Amino acid sequence: MTDEIYDPAYVAALFDRCSLRYRRWSAVSSFGFVWLWRRHCVDRLRGQSQVARIQNGQVTKRAPKCPQIVDLMAGTGEIWPHVFDAFPRAQITAIDISPNMHAHAVTRLHQTRSRQITHLNANALDTDLPTSSADMVVATFGLKTFNADQQTVLAHQIARILREGGCFSLIEASDPKGWLLRPLYRAYLDRALPLLERVFLHGAQDFSMIGAYTQNFGDCAHMADALRAAGLNVTYQRHFFGCATSVAGTKPIAPDAPAP
Ligand SMILES: C[S@@+](CC[C@H](N)C(=O)[O-])C[C@H]1O[C@@H](n2cnc3c(N)ncnc32)[C@H](O)[C@@H]1O
Repeated sequence: MTDEIYDPAYVAALFDRCSLRYRRWSAVSSFGFVWLWRRHCVDRLRGQSQVARIQNGQVTKRAPKCPQIVDLMAGTGEIWPHVFDAFPRAQITAIDISPNMHAHAVTRLHQTRSRQITHLNANALDTDLPTSSADMVVATFGLKTFNADQQTVLAHQIARILREGGCFSLIEASDPKGWLLRPLYRAYLDRALPLLERVFLHGAQDFSMIGAYTQNFGDCAHMADALRAAGLNVTYQRHFFGCATSVAGTKPIAPDAPAP
């Protein structure tokens, strides 16, 4: 089971099955926290886009008017309303491995913005997006289905597709180790949610996988290390006692070569 749940084909099939109810189930079962955390993730992206403009203590380049934003593990695109609030003219490339998640994103939420969104049904670990093509990379709740080695590969992908001076922000549900109420939180994820899913979704056990994935994932600490090792500037944050953690940062601009 442990290795199988990180097989991309297994993950794609899991989310294909979840796609119809994903939006409502994730909002209700998290008591609305996913909405708030997506918002935090985009706030951090906006903050990093300002940080990226500072070089040698001076505010240098203007931010691009129509930033190219790659949304990794985009799912049904729940983050896009937040992205368009922050960057109204953004062009989003949405990457997801589950065809059904893409289909729900297209038909339900984003017809009005369709010219600003490109959908790619692909594995985020080996996309052929051009090097240095993205101004920003964002990902919400798409890290936990990667094991540590896969996170390292993803960090290199992010560093590769970001242009110099570009920025990123990633957030993931996490295991709040050390929190007084962690036993309650774990009981909810590991026991209550599976029971609710069996009762209300006719015996399904797909959403319940979040318990196993978040426990194995831990938090964004490994991702932070992997992104640093890939050459990015990284800051790490905990949200609501560590029930989510996030990493955000920039791709440094290489210093100009000395004049001959
Ligand atoms: C929990 S959902 C998050 C969706 C969305 N970002 C959100 O905020 O609701 C995780 C998504 O990651 C996608 N995913 C998982 N592994 C992937 C991979 N290797 N490449 C691309 N997408 C992947 C799944 O298909 C699923 O749609």
